[in-house]
Order: sequence, then structure tokens, then C-alpha cells
Amino acid sequence: MGFPLTRLRRLRRTAAFRDMVRETSLDPADFILPLFVRPGTNVRKDIPSMPGVCQLSVDTLVEECRAAMDDGVRAVILFGIPERKDATGSSAWDEDGVIPRSVRELKSVLPDLVVITDVCMCEYTDHGHCGAIKDGDVDNDATLELLAKESLAHARAGVDMVAPSDMMDGRIGFIRKALDAEGFTGLPIMSYAAKYASGFYGPFRDAAESPPQFGDRRSYQMDPANAREAMREIALDIGEGADIVMVKPAMPYLDILREARVRFEVPLAAYQVSGEYAMIHAAARNGWLDLDTIMVESLTAIKRAGADMILTYFARDAARKLR
Ligand code: PBG
Repeated sequence: MGFPLTRLRRLRRTAAFRDMVRETSLDPADFILPLFVRPGTNVRKDIPSMPGVCQLSVDTLVEECRAAMDDGVRAVILFGIPERKDATGSSAWDEDGVIPRSVRELKSVLPDLVVITDVCMCEYTDHGHCGAIKDGDVDNDATLELLAKESLAHARAGVDMVAPSDMMDGRIGFIRKALDAEGFTGLPIMSYAAKYASGFYGPFRDAAESPPQFGDRRSYQMDPANAREAMREIALDIGEGADIVMVKPAMPYLDILREARVRFEVPLAAYQVSGEYAMIHAAARNGWLDLDTIMVESLTAIKRAGADMILTYFARDAARKLR
């Protein structure tokens, strides 16, 4: 059955043939656009390491979301930069905080937009860690209470889905119970299930103003060297009621995505993180790579590996390109 009987180039000869046999295609419905919101009005503060990405205020957020929907984007995930930070991150569950206000505004003005909120403490704590600190480390079980309060504040504001990104053990089950107890039984949870302690989050920490003030996140986020452990994380989160599970970062972890796709039946998300986006832009600015080609190729690779949906800062550009 080999050459010369078989010639794989036959079906690559024309664009029509290539389109016919293509195994993976991108759709604007696959994309979730991450956005950063801070207090104030008329804010559009550029993030130098993430070209085209800004910190927004609630009013400019609404404009941005309307424009994103015009491009074909149907879902956003919001990160909040609060007015003040403290040791427990108490503004995370302030019903008048920047995220609940954003959610209320977006759901009233753009009811068809899927609004997802990131649930984590690192943007709200003065030490920049993803939970409450005890003896120099993040206290897992004490943090669960804080995450549940934060999730409830978002739920009461009318969010469509919450996405815990803190990597505490047991948080999906804990948040699920808290939501159900208040009647939010229909509110789905997207779990950052296999989230690695990655250097690729560098630009995000500028964007969200959330770098840890001491140490790093390796006592709660996963070791980049581990693949089997990712499967345990995902299985646990599904068992606790996660509706969607995520692998993060995306492109350096395609093996994890593929393995998760093979093993689990739940919808699978991948997060093409800030560092992936920044690297592509930096190379393009130097004239070393073609931006559009790499944007489409990277997103296609992530989808081919098994992602049903992709959180990406390219969401608007990619959706426009697919129209
Ligand atoms: C919050 C959070 C982070 C990202 C998403 N949620 C940063 C971190 O864990 O340090 C990273 C996203 C990106 O790099 O684009 N915990």
C-alpha cells in the first residue's frame, strides 16, 4: 500500500481538496476573550507586553464587548483589579466590586454575551497569592471559604459561569455546594483543572497587577514536569462537579490536552496564556514570524490536540479572520 500506489500529495493539490479533507476547523464560537477591568471611567490602559490588550473600566468594557460581539466573539472571561487589596482579599466578594458591577452592566446591555468570571484571590490580596496565608504558605481549607464567597458575589450579579483558577484542593466541590445552597443549581463551573506553575503567565501578572510578593505558586499550581498528575486533577474536578475542565497553558501542554481528550468525556478548554500571546507578538514585531499565520496555526494546533474551546487574547482578531 505504499508508494507509488499511495501519494498523499494528490489531495493537497488544490485549495478545494485541502478544504475537503481538513480535519480541524476553527469557529468563532470556540473562543473566549479574557478582559481586565479596573475601577474608574473611560480607562483604556495599555499593557506593554500584550499588544492590543488594555485594562478597562466598566464603561469601556461594555464598548469592548460590543465590538467583540460585532467581530463574532460570543464569550468573555473577566479578571478584576480592585480598588484596594488586603491580606484576605476581601474586595473579592464585595457586591459593589468591579467584577459584580461589570457583570450586572454587561448582562443588562448585552444579554446574549456569555459572561464568565475568573474566581481567584491573587488579584485581591496584598501579598499576591491565590488564597489566605498561614505560616508562609497558602492555607487550602481557609481559602475555600473565600472562593465560595467570591463565587456567590459573582452569581448574585448574574454571571453565566464561574471559573476557579486558584488550584486549591477540593474547591470545585466546595463552590458547587455553596452555589447550590443559594439556589444557583443551574450555574456551570469551568475548572482550571490542570493549571501549571508556568513562566508563561508573566505578562498577565502585569495586566492583572497580581504578582506574588514573596515566593512563587509552586505549592499550589502543578509542576510542569507532570502529566499523570494532570489526569488526577481533572478526574477529581469532574468528580466534584466541574462542567468544563481546562488545561493551562495551551501550546506547551498539547500532550496534556490530547491525553485529557482521550480519557474524559467532559467539554475541554485550553488557555492560550499571556506569555504565548506575547511571544508571538514579539516575534512578529521583529519580522521573524507572520502574526496572522502563527495566530491561526497556534489556535488550530490547540483545537487539533483536543480543545473544544480556547481562551485567547487573539479571540477578536481570529474571529474577524474567520468571517
Ligand atoms: C489567576 C490567574 C492567572 C492566569 C489566569 N488566572 C495567573 C497566575 O496564576 O499567576 C494567567 C493567565 C495568563 O497568563 O494569560 N490565578
